[in-house]
Amino acid sequence: MSLLEVSGLSVEFDTPEGVVRAVTDLNFKVDNGTTLAIVGESGSGKSQAVFSLMGLLAHNGRASGSVKMEGEEMLGRSYAEMNRIRANKISMIFQDPMTSLNPYMRISDQMAEVLVCHKGMSRTDAIRDSIEMLDAVKIPSAKERIRMYPHEFSGGMRQRVMIAMSLLCRPRLLIADEPTTALDVTIQAQIMRLLGEIQRELGTAIILITHDLGVVAGHSDEILVMYGGRVMEMASTGELYRSPAHPYTQGLLTAVPRLDHDDESLTTIPGTPPNMMELPKGCPFSERCQYCRERCLEAIPVLTPLAHHDRHLKACFATAGALR
Ligand SMILES: Nc1ncnc2c1ncn2[C@@H]1O[C@H](COP(=O)(O)OP(=O)(O)OP(=O)(O)O)[C@@H](O)[C@H]1O
Ligand SMILES: [Mg+2]
Repeated sequence: MSLLEVSGLSVEFDTPEGVVRAVTDLNFKVDNGTTLAIVGESGSGKSQAVFSLMGLLAHNGRASGSVKMEGEEMLGRSYAEMNRIRANKISMIFQDPMTSLNPYMRISDQMAEVLVCHKGMSRTDAIRDSIEMLDAVKIPSAKERIRMYPHEFSGGMRQRVMIAMSLLCRPRLLIADEPTTALDVTIQAQIMRLLGEIQRELGTAIILITHDLGVVAGHSDEILVMYGGRVMEMASTGELYRSPAHPYTQGLLTAVPRLDHDDESLTTIPGTPPNMMELPKGCPFSERCQYCRERCLEAIPVLTPLAHHDRHLKACFATAGALR
């Protein structure tokens, strides 16, 4: 049994204009101590997919399918039950750190509150554990700095505080939604290294969400590429970089800036992501795909293993030879 098993997960939102299909039929597993990266452009459904498994969808949203954490079904639970699970099993670092840190409270109070509420610790013990965790994420002089307010930290340090806070209850699974997007490249690399160290130390599994395939190269075991709410391709990280099989993944990879090239121009995939309320009848990527054929406009390709690669899947009608 895997730590997390997601099957047939779909997320829909009711809006006055119609139903938004944010996520359609997502299937994946995450094992203890491993990292799954979910990659895709803005609006592809990455955040809503993980919000649904945390029980954090907006009121107009609903999830269907199955999400099992250590064998226990998570969908359809009450808010109170999800609160308990969220604290002890799954934790999340949100896209914008300032939305989850209270600007008017000292870090010490925000961190201690988590342990007092969820673990029933005394305040003294909670502060001691919080300082330890700030040390673990390499905040210098944690003992003094814990008394500061969020705005007194730099962006990178604030992200470390967020990571420390999310790890306080020692979750089995940490979900990091674009944890480094707002940071410059050097700090990004430090935070990614830090997540790796924590993972090795605590054995935490990680779901890492990003729109940038370049970020996850050395920092994930498996990659799931999403577009228009669906999985386009899924493979081990090495395999995906070596032999990307879906035109969308190939496009994302050529859009990754190369540090070893003088030319800093960034190629992007021409066109824009689809309207999630009026998805095309066929492949969601068909409108932007240079290999699009009649068939791609008529039917949605099913996610299937490549020949001789049972753990490398793609949802595309084109044969490998046609994609060169
Ligand atoms: N409450 C809501 N009501 C209606 N539609 C919503 C709601 N929340 C999200 N959506 C839609 O769901 C789709 C997927 O959004 P999601 O936040 O998962 O994108 P994302 O892949 O995380 O993008 P980004 O990289 O910009 O964070 C989008 O089209 C978004 O507009
Ligand atoms: Mg998002």
